[in-house]
Amino acid sequence: MRSLSSLSLLAAVPSVLGDKHYFFSGFFAGSTIAGIEFDDSANSLTLVNNITAQSSDGSKWIAIDERKENVYVATTGEIQSYAVTANKSLEYKSNITLSSSCQNANFIAAANTAPYTVFGVAYSTGCAAQAITVDDTGSLQNAVANLTYNTTAGVHGLDLSPDAAFIYSADDMGNAVWVHSYNSTTQAAAELQYLAAPEGANPRHLAVHPNGKWVYVIYEEANSLAVYARDTETGLLTDKNTTYSLLPAGFTNTSSYWADEVKFSLPAFNASATSPKYLITGTRSRTTSLQGYVSAFALDATTGGVTEQLFLLPTTSSGGSANAVAPAPFSEEYFAITDSGSNFVEVWKMDDEGMSAASVAHLGLGAGPANVVWVN
Ligand SMILES: *[C@@H]1O[C@H](CO)[C@@H](O)[C@H](O)[C@H]1NC(C)=O
Ligand SMILES: *[C@@H]1O[C@H](CO)[C@@H](O)[C@H](O)[C@H]1NC(C)=O
Ligand SMILES: *[C@@H]1O[C@H](CO)[C@@H](O)[C@H](O)[C@H]1NC(C)=O
Ligand SMILES: *[C@@H]1O[C@H](CO)[C@@H](O)[C@H](O)[C@H]1NC(C)=O
Ligand SMILES: *[C@@H]1O[C@H](CO)[C@@H](O)[C@H](O)[C@H]1NC(C)=O
Ligand SMILES: *[C@@H]1O[C@H](CO)[C@@H](O)[C@H](O)[C@H]1NC(C)=O
Ligand SMILES: *[C@@H]1O[C@H](CO)[C@@H](O)[C@H](O)[C@H]1NC(C)=O
Ligand SMILES: *[C@@H]1O[C@H](CO)[C@@H](O)[C@H](O)[C@H]1NC(C)=O
Ligand SMILES: *[C@@H]1O[C@H](CO)[C@@H](O)[C@H](O)[C@H]1NC(C)=O
Repeated sequence: MRSLSSLSLLAAVPSVLGDKHYFFSGFFAGSTIAGIEFDDSANSLTLVNNITAQSSDGSKWIAIDERKENVYVATTGEIQSYAVTANKSLEYKSNITLSSSCQNANFIAAANTAPYTVFGVAYSTGCAAQAITVDDTGSLQNAVANLTYNTTAGVHGLDLSPDAAFIYSADDMGNAVWVHSYNSTTQAAAELQYLAAPEGANPRHLAVHPNGKWVYVIYEEANSLAVYARDTETGLLTDKNTTYSLLPAGFTNTSSYWADEVKFSLPAFNASATSPKYLITGTRSRTTSLQGYVSAFALDATTGGVTEQLFLLPTTSSGGSANAVAPAPFSEEYFAITDSGSNFVEVWKMDDEGMSAASVAHLGLGAGPANVVWVN
């Protein structure tokens, strides 16, 4: 459950429509992290801050803490932490240095509950994910446990149970989903479950429903969304053998696409709400000149199960290596999306009770954005 007590410096007042909102964008290469403003009345995006990160090798994945006071950055060889400053910039604080065989830092998931453990993983065969402690301010402190897989595993995405006691790993190279436990008191991690995914699936990212009852998994190669039921006591998963295609009916050229992202919408004004209305996905086209796709699913308010696939629409361009969707904290109808094939970020808005969506703001960038994190 997300904490209500830890309000941030920048987001202390809940934002409403008619406001300006702010997010950070990472990039696949270079040393810049962008600070970008979205004005929801003018429907405009403005690059307000070119922040120089302490790495010249990109910020392949960024995460923000529950308090919106720290940004964690995955860059080659390091998982870094930055404090969000009063002027909405980033101040370098510390890093966890990765081993020589696991340099490709690729994904970070930050717990929303005390003690706010951060989990990071490098995308190379056989690399463990690491549980990392933070200090009182949220800066990364020490890697205290390894969540181990096996020699064929290559984990691309992680998510945590609402209490952060269970970690779910999407094993893209090993075609599996793994479940680990982590006890933040003893700092002990254990492997609990290995679920082979169907032939040709390749789990890339996944999202644990805030009610704890479901894990929704992106099958990158199959270009589908898969449904796993979660036991809220044991944390164990059951593959429901239910998938939804993330490509239009009749597309047989699935190898021309690679699905990538799945995120829940964020119930506005209520950070602890356990019933998001939507699940939003992104799918990339492997050809820069041909469009990728974005889709949304309606979720049952009580069970959290998928009730309907609401829309499946082409994105503005291919998405490049990105098409990473990032639902907005101020309205469940808005999300940001990144495109590293044509170098832009957009904000999309859903209409008609989620039955349709369209880009409402577009910002061209000088390099390929990876993913964004909203501050407010
Ligand atoms: C950020 O950098 C871009 C590309 O170099 C430049 O066009 C833009 O003016 C800069 N913006 C700010 C706010 O510094
Ligand atoms: C933002 O504040 C930090 C100190 O917290 C300062 O070092 C930095 O120069 C400021 N950046 C801008 C763009 O004003
Ligand atoms: C990360 O930590 C290592 C080990 O403490 C240090 O050598 C390195 O300079 C740090 N990286 C940055 C960007 O400060
Ligand atoms: C995690 O694994 C690495 C590589 O095997 C090892 O060097 C490190 O000590 C382990 N960390 C912990 C906390 O066990
Ligand atoms: C990886 O571990 C899983 C679970 O123990 C096992 O089923 C799978 O065969 C292993 N793969 C290899 C190559 O060891
Ligand atoms: C974590 O370990 C502590 C100390 O052994 C124990 O009291 C606690 O119940 C454990 N927590 C969980 C969730 O298992
Ligand atoms: C999913 O399919 C597998 C393999 O066919 C089967 O063992 C399992 O029972 C099925 N799960 C459900 C929930 O039907
Ligand atoms: C995939 O096939 C569909 C239907 O024939 C076509 O419209 C689309 O352009 C193809 N996509 C790519 C990336 O080749
Ligand atoms: C916030 O969400 C929680 C969990 O769904 C609910 O119990 C609570 O009443 C909501 N609070 C507000 C102010 O809507």
